[in-house]
Amino acid sequence: MAPFLCNQWYTAATSAELGAKPLARTICNEPLVIFRAQEGAVAVLTDRCPHRKAPLSCGEVVGNDIQCGYHGIRFAADGACTHVPGNVPIGRNFRARCFPAREIHGLIFVWLGEPSLADPALIPDFSENVKPGWTGVHGTLYVKGNYQLLIDNILDLTHVVFVHKTTLAGSGVAETPLEVDIDGDVVRAQRLMHNVDTAPIYRAARNLHGNIDRWQFLEFRPPIYARITLGAREAGSDLPFGTPTHVVLNSFTPETERTTHYFWSTVRSWGLDDASVSKTYKDMTDLAFAEDARIVEAQQRLIDSDPSGAPLVSLAFDRAALAARRIIKRKLEEEAQATAPAVKGSAQRAAVRGADATA
Ligand code: FES
Ligand SMILES: [Fe+2]
Repeated sequence: MAPFLCNQWYTAATSAELGAKPLARTICNEPLVIFRAQEGAVAVLTDRCPHRKAPLSCGEVVGNDIQCGYHGIRFAADGACTHVPGNVPIGRNFRARCFPAREIHGLIFVWLGEPSLADPALIPDFSENVKPGWTGVHGTLYVKGNYQLLIDNILDLTHVVFVHKTTLAGSGVAETPLEVDIDGDVVRAQRLMHNVDTAPIYRAARNLHGNIDRWQFLEFRPPIYARITLGAREAGSDLPFGTPTHVVLNSFTPETERTTHYFWSTVRSWGLDDASVSKTYKDMTDLAFAEDARIVEAQQRLIDSDPSGAPLVSLAFDRAALAARRIIKRKLEEEAQATAPAVKGSAQRAAVRGADATA
């Protein structure tokens, strides 16, 4: 079975990352080049130039095309070859593979599977990144760990007590059970806490120094998305229970089986002009997610070196993470079944791969 789902949108980059130069990024083992055409639209092609397999990302954007940095052949956003130096004749099939791409809410998404299934309505909601009345801070991390370890991590906030002592920890988190609801492919979980010690992040950002009521709402959408709504109030105060203090929007895009591009945003709908609150969220989230990366990378190393191959064990507070893993596994099986008839054709194509071809 393939290690990753294909017929899915994956967060490929932030809009801010993509400047005038093409961006090389491997997603689900697929080397891609992402570039912005002169007219502004984002395009994603395989990074392997169909000529001699040099990386297109080493080239440059020329008008609406990308020009390979090796021999100067150009390709349009749809992969069609538009120019060959010296006007050498080319065959109709000489083109770069192109992938459906969309730029929305400050992020660039790519679809790796069957292009006709790439429905933009399936892209998860990141609208708070750009919605009027909201502001946020953002970050990216490169983590040497499997993306599912990071999904486990975000869906099990028990760890905040032990991993994030100076930012997110607080009493009540580990003691309060996680309520989990599975709704088709979506996992929702919540932990509601009353009259517990405050956490450093609420002290710094919300000036909550005494006991607080605290809530955590988690939502996972396959294959890589987790929306975490967090909040707190002075214990017993009038602020409606569940009002978001901040929302953390996460994408865990696999690079390979053992590496992940992690994109996050921490957004809020209050204190929009308060730069010191934004700095608090940025500094504390950077610190906390670096702590997550450290523990997940160590975990990945020990999983890889474990001669027993014993499976991971799931306890009560892992229920949301376990549900997410089961959904991913089921969808991988469904996708494998749906593509099974194509295997014969792939095998035939593989047999001729490597032979010299004339374009
Ligand atoms: S390898 Fe790209 S133009 Fe030759
Ligand atoms: Fe964490």
